[in-house]
Amino acid sequence: MKDVFLTTLRDRETKTEGFRKAAHQLSGLLAAESSSFLPKMSSLVNSPMASAEGSKLKREPVLVSILRSGLVLLPAFVSLYPGASIGCVGIRRDEKTAAPHLYSSHLPQLRSDDMIFLLDPMVATGQSAELAIRLIKEAGGSEAKIMLVSFLASSKGMAYVKRKAPDVHALIAHVDEGLDANHWIIPGLGDFGDRYFET
Ligand code: URA
Repeated sequence: MKDVFLTTLRDRETKTEGFRKAAHQLSGLLAAESSSFLPKMSSLVNSPMASAEGSKLKREPVLVSILRSGLVLLPAFVSLYPGASIGCVGIRRDEKTAAPHLYSSHLPQLRSDDMIFLLDPMVATGQSAELAIRLIKEAGGSEAKIMLVSFLASSKGMAYVKRKAPDVHALIAHVDEGLDANHWIIPGLGDFGDRYFET
């Protein structure tokens, strides 16, 4: 179904309501998929009738959202991981050069064994993701425990992230081949934030 929701997001005829709905549905699928990366342990549970073999997460993950579009992925992840710590990194990209500018950073204290889901629906040049990864590492997180979660990435952007942070994992609904001279993903879906937030 990821391709179905992505098709709705790409379609320039999709109105705000349908765009938001598809974004939330795709976030739900990515959140569900993210759970297979978390270590679990077996635990005995007592039902009203008898005890049974069960399992639970070893640790809740940490969620880091790149503002503002990363906020869109957050509700699906919080509903799956209600005990997760949440960090927000405010990065604005320069409209001409696409260089990332950090305007705010609120990260929890991180442990090297924290699994960190870095949420950003679009990875175009990869520079914002790379900056966020750097901040996460400065806060104590390990590169190998970071998973970048996105709807759409450019192959150039993913190659950049892999070059700068080779141990980072990625959970991306689709990778597009193109990135135009103005740093838009091609075919992409246009400006995700403007379409979602209706600005
Ligand atoms: N951000 C978007 O919203 N769209 C792109 O194509 C690239 C970056």
